[in-house]
Amino acid sequence: MREFDFLVLGSGIAGLFFALKAAPLGRVAIITKKDRAESNTNYAQGGIAAVTSKEDSVELHVRDTLEAGAGLCKEAVVRVIVQEGPARIAELMRYGMQFTEREIPSSHGARELDLGREGGHSKRRILHAKDVTGREVERALLAAVAAESNITIFENHIAIDLITSRKLGLGGENRCLGAYVLDKQSGNVETFAAPATVLATGGCGKVYLYTTNPDIATGDGVAMAYRAGAEVANMEFVQFHPTCLYHPKAKSFLISEAVRGEGGVLKTIAGEEFMDAHHPLKSLAPRDIVARAIDSEMKKSGADYVLLDITHKPARFLMERFPNIYQTCLSYGIDMTKEPIPVVPAAHYQCGGVVTDIDGRTGIAGLYAVGEVACTGLHGANRLASNSLLEALVLAHRAAARLAANPPDRARPPIPPWHSGNAHNPDEMVVVSHNWDEIRRAMWDYVGIVRTTKRLERARKRIANLQEEIQEYYWDFIVTSDLLELRNIATVAEIIIRCALQRPESRGLHYTLDYPHPNPEWAQRDTVVRR
Ligand code: FAD
Ligand code: SIN
Repeated sequence: MREFDFLVLGSGIAGLFFALKAAPLGRVAIITKKDRAESNTNYAQGGIAAVTSKEDSVELHVRDTLEAGAGLCKEAVVRVIVQEGPARIAELMRYGMQFTEREIPSSHGARELDLGREGGHSKRRILHAKDVTGREVERALLAAVAAESNITIFENHIAIDLITSRKLGLGGENRCLGAYVLDKQSGNVETFAAPATVLATGGCGKVYLYTTNPDIATGDGVAMAYRAGAEVANMEFVQFHPTCLYHPKAKSFLISEAVRGEGGVLKTIAGEEFMDAHHPLKSLAPRDIVARAIDSEMKKSGADYVLLDITHKPARFLMERFPNIYQTCLSYGIDMTKEPIPVVPAAHYQCGGVVTDIDGRTGIAGLYAVGEVACTGLHGANRLASNSLLEALVLAHRAAARLAANPPDRARPPIPPWHSGNAHNPDEMVVVSHNWDEIRRAMWDYVGIVRTTKRLERARKRIANLQEEIQEYYWDFIVTSDLLELRNIATVAEIIIRCALQRPESRGLHYTLDYPHPNPEWAQRDTVVRR
């Protein structure tokens, strides 16, 4: 049994920022299932949206967020996050984050933060570190964490399940007491106990066959919270990023929306612009609209991809502004300064998640959720680009402040050790990878950008059958991280389908041919599921 004051699951921006804030209050354990930097955060390209320029205002950022959210954002939450964003950005910089700067024109060398533009933003407001913002966030925060003696990071440790008073059969309010965690190297399951546990486990892109997300994004936090009895909401709103690199050898490489922000234009493979027909903002329309337009163009033409053309910009500018995208495309034989980039939409971001209040509190005492795993009400039916890193910073800060002001109850009942099956199964790897592929393909084919009730029902049945099979494996055999992740993607797939079936309308990222229009009665209604 390991005991800490704060147990943080995840080492992306949300987990690290929270840990730094909590360290002065007590001992913090960060559990992370791979290498400490491996996270969605590490791959963030475009940047962090925040009001830092005189041309911009909180009001405009709020308005853009509400507009992208298609009537479902909680305005009070949007206001708090947008308002507090600049202060959190200043702190991030104090922790060592270096954003890209530019020279102020006719200022004799004075510099200011360079601001990028992305879809749905009416102003330039995206702070970035060239096109590798997330890598710089992780570098800076991990360096700050390394300097904190009160924080211990456990790499290659995967949280299996939350430990709650209800699961232990105790009465009273349901309280989170910690988590069971698999040490992937030793194969042992350890018990981590803490009066406050923070889910910062990120999103679930791997539930879909094609995604911009790295392999860690298997929805573990949502699945664990759901099994523990927390409310999960709005999971039908899966954001498909319009422009993932299309190349047979490329796995999950994003072409940042900032490329369109700097003038990149979407074209068919015949070289014709097509976004004019879909939205006045053309290639910079909100993501749901761009992704659907690409999907429709691809279906019309039968092509496997569309093109993103920014060849009209000077080559030097492109190499300087997008060094990572330029080099990566070049490694696949595509010179973006001379030819358009083939792109396709891919699952990118989970707008729903574990329901929390504005301080990250879930419905289970002692359990907080921060970052992409959480559903605070900021994103509504569609997240505005670069608002997620912002949300993670603000909520991590608020959760730590809440815990400082209201220290959690330290008394706890005895926690029994983990019990697992003890059989080894030689077939396991084959079955796990087969089921894994089947879930991801079913979700892509039936629960993708354009949905119908019939396809959702079909997916529901397939996932239910697979879950039965996975359940058998889970209880009989020694747990492995592959099996844990398989169980979690199946659970999250089930939740996405349940939420999608609950919403009899099209709104934001949820588009169904059976109800092609928004229904005003559903404008402020979340789709909530609970186990
Ligand atoms: P993550 O950064 O994903 O971190 C999750 C952590 O939890 C990881 O350390 C992971 O290993 C760990 N973990 C997960 N499950 C377990 C478990 N069971 N046990 C232990 N550890 C676990 N957003 C923006 O605002 N701006 C951008 O420019 C931007 N660009 C993006 C580009 C790409 C390619 C991608 C994929 C996303 C992008 N996003 C962007 C979204 C944004 O990066 C994420 O929403 C954000 O980083 C999530 O941060 P997080 O801390 O909540 O989760
Ligand atoms: C991008 O750079 O296009 C990603 C931005 C985001 O997901 O917010």
